[in-house]
Amino acid sequence: MQIDIIPTTEDILLENSSGFGKTTLLQKNDKMCCYLGLGQQLLVLEDIRLLGGFAWKEISKAGDSQANIDFGSIAKQTPDYTMEQVISSFMEGWHMAAYQFTSYKQHSKQLPHLSVNSSDEVFAACDKEALHKADAVHFARDLCNEPASELTPALYAERLKQEFAQTDVKVEIIEDEALTFDKFPAIHTIAKGSSEAPKLAVLTLNRDDNQEKMALVGKGVTFDSGGINAKTARDIGDMKMDMGGSAAVAGVMKLLETSGSKVNVTAILPLVQNLSDGNAMLPSDVIKYRNGYHVEVGNTDAEGRLVLADGMLYAQEEIGAKKIVDIATLTGSIGRALGTKAAGIFSNDERSLWRYKQLGDASGDFVWPMPIYEDYKELLHTDTADINNMCNTPLGGSIAAALFLQQFAKDTDKWIHIDMANKMTPQKVHSYYTPGASGFGVRLLYALVLEESGIEG
Ligand code: BES
Ligand code: MN
Ligand code: ZN
Repeated sequence: MQIDIIPTTEDILLENSSGFGKTTLLQKNDKMCCYLGLGQQLLVLEDIRLLGGFAWKEISKAGDSQANIDFGSIAKQTPDYTMEQVISSFMEGWHMAAYQFTSYKQHSKQLPHLSVNSSDEVFAACDKEALHKADAVHFARDLCNEPASELTPALYAERLKQEFAQTDVKVEIIEDEALTFDKFPAIHTIAKGSSEAPKLAVLTLNRDDNQEKMALVGKGVTFDSGGINAKTARDIGDMKMDMGGSAAVAGVMKLLETSGSKVNVTAILPLVQNLSDGNAMLPSDVIKYRNGYHVEVGNTDAEGRLVLADGMLYAQEEIGAKKIVDIATLTGSIGRALGTKAAGIFSNDERSLWRYKQLGDASGDFVWPMPIYEDYKELLHTDTADINNMCNTPLGGSIAAALFLQQFAKDTDKWIHIDMANKMTPQKVHSYYTPGASGFGVRLLYALVLEESGIEG
């Protein structure tokens, strides 16, 4: 089927007032047309991505198709962007919409194959870049959508080895005796309540020795029951996605690899289940970290920060990373602070936060700058150890968690922390967002890594 995509600012076919994102598929003589409402306002990159997603979903109703589109008519509505940016963004939304997770559905329809006709070299390059991004996001979505028992730490480690075999990303799984209790006390302590052995996945992509080493630490709790401080909600199935931070990191490693980026990045992914049985860690237990710091486990459900700390110390002491980015589904609080539009971003270099916010806006993975108030440290007070993993008030939980992590970032020049607990599923399932996981973080981390490596994105 041949289809003409017709971007339009006219209201004739558009029911909603702005008309943005409204699509209509029409048969005209022997041709199909897909009207695509641009609305009246100037478009930002995210709007163009959404248009790509809306167009894909509408056209997919017609089955396998080849589409013709004049990107110039979209570019007219976006004076701030280059043609390349317009095409890349549109195609990013287009490809990201083509995702479904059907591994456990007996009767699932295959997605139709949709392509955009173009013999243009510029288009080909932009489309390729967009496809790399979408593939990496789909990889992260796949990992998050997998049921918890199909993505145990061991199975997760296998998936990573498989994914990166025959690529420039080197995968090392630290496990068994190599994963010593002394060096990874939190990972082991969290794992005590589970019959699954924990793993630490270390992924390296070094394409430029002259680049300073940068570490990406991703929370990989493959299921979070809360442990002895059990979660009480009726449905905690989404806690299979408590490895969303690690999925974002795995996704960006794939993207950096396929896009040929000249970076020097190490991904550190603690993979562990937070369950409870007779051996489980207990509230009141104390973890002694490799730097001599003692943490009281005030609450076994604040497990993310505990395992991230192991990863962050490893990044500094064994990798020698001077820049660390951690990303995690860390606190319910972040959603109470920000809702579901943007994740929270924190840093010991506060001045950079607005720049990161811009990168988030441009990437489609939105973040909002958060403070780290030193005086909140008293919220983490304990009579027994150096610090508590739990905040002793219900307020400011995300900031307290960031403050906790900052204690483990003392040997870095720069540390960035992203709390994405409110972003593991889409704010809205429409356009390029599909049911299940959002794949949040891949595109943001990509922009961050390039920025911090001094590479133009
Ligand atoms: N994985 C959760 C955070 C979370 C909550 C992610 C909702 C996604 C959706 C984390 O391990 C957790 O349980 N955090 C606690 C911390 C508290 C016990 C200090 C929280 O936010 O309630
Ligand atoms: Mn928890
Ligand atoms: Zn958790």
